[in-house]
Amino acid sequence: MNPDSVEDYVAATPRSRALHERATAVMPGGDTRSVTFHEPYPSYVQSASGCRLLTEDDEELLDLLNNYTQSVLGHAPPAVVEAVTDRFARGNGVGAPTDDAVVLAERLVDRVPSIEQVRFGNSGTEATMNAIRAAMAHTGEETVLKLQGGYHGTHDTVEVAVEGDGREHAGIPRDVERRVVTAPFNDIDALKDRFERHGDELACFILEPLMGVAGGISPELAFLETARDLTEEYDVPLIFDEVMTMRLAHGGAQARYGVTPDLTALGKFIGGGLPVGAFGGREDLMNAFHPEDGVAHHSGTFNANPATMAGGVATLEALDTAAIERLNELGNRLRREARAIVAGHDLDVTVTGDGSMFQLHRTSGPVTDAESAAAGTDAFEELFLAMRNRGVFMAPRGMGNLSTPMDDAEIDEFLAVLDDSLAAVEA
Ligand SMILES: Cc1ncc(COP(=O)(O)O)c(C=O)c1O
Repeated sequence: MNPDSVEDYVAATPRSRALHERATAVMPGGDTRSVTFHEPYPSYVQSASGCRLLTEDDEELLDLLNNYTQSVLGHAPPAVVEAVTDRFARGNGVGAPTDDAVVLAERLVDRVPSIEQVRFGNSGTEATMNAIRAAMAHTGEETVLKLQGGYHGTHDTVEVAVEGDGREHAGIPRDVERRVVTAPFNDIDALKDRFERHGDELACFILEPLMGVAGGISPELAFLETARDLTEEYDVPLIFDEVMTMRLAHGGAQARYGVTPDLTALGKFIGGGLPVGAFGGREDLMNAFHPEDGVAHHSGTFNANPATMAGGVATLEALDTAAIERLNELGNRLRREARAIVAGHDLDVTVTGDGSMFQLHRTSGPVTDAESAAAGTDAFEELFLAMRNRGVFMAPRGMGNLSTPMDDAEIDEFLAVLDDSLAAVEA
């Protein structure tokens, strides 16, 4: 990493450094969420409003991370704050259903083409885990097909073949690994091959319709359509993980790309900034969890937490079609102009993404799957730190996304910082 960038960062962040030192005494490496850690230590944030973060060192940062797509309305949007605080003040966690979950469920059923019935949990991890269980209950099979490099949370099955971090994932039983089959994204022949060889033993095929964590990689439409055709042919439930991609259209990426799965996992913004997950889909599959005669069990102290549900309803209300289309247009502009800026520098950088999601890769591309995206991951932190030092906060691996408080002025700000940062890295 460029020593100037590290020195500048350390000089600007003494309070974050002190907090990190305290944190290392009580948390391994001072960290409790792998992706928020970066070298030499992460910045601590004292507050956030709209599209700005205020760090403990009193720096204002333009937030292009948005908690990995969760804060689609930016930070502390007044309507959501009001809905959540009002609901919390009326008693939260009552051990019985409240109308908030019914309203949020109705909204999701209205919006997302595949969702006829839905259930709530507390994370995207739980959402993909339970969607897979519904599929296993339907098929009676235990082998899961996923994409190489696909990220779906942290339960055992989906931790297999995430890669990218180059580590062994200790704690995942070998037996689980043996029950996961993988295929590369956007490779139709490989997908056909997997179904020919394993189609009869598959419980489900789970994928993000646009690979988010793996690098903001857009799908070839024919790949998604082939996935739909093959899963139908073999009666294998197709699961779309739309934890991130729900933000791409009123009905999620499945509406944007016109391919409807059997089950969908959701999370991130649908809880208004509180922990949330949801999974839904075809009624016959979801009936696995029917309380009277279902075969699967789904419980959780905080499932359908009233304040979370109320925050989700307020968020979905604000994130209507017009708001999403405006954000997607800003995203188009950002990618287009970022590509032109990158072309003016002597560095291998590829810009991917769709709608309000984008990613910068330190590779000449093309980036079409996790393997081609991984080529530049290690080299990225240098650019991340250069941008962070100039007031723009993104994921250390180069992922970014937009929030509704942003407008053309923030895109200008990002592009100017990108240009300067590329020059700094080049030097
Ligand atoms: C596509 C995808 N699926 C699942 C998850 C897991 O969600 P959570 O972190 O809420 O468990 C994430 C989180 O980033 C995600 O991006």
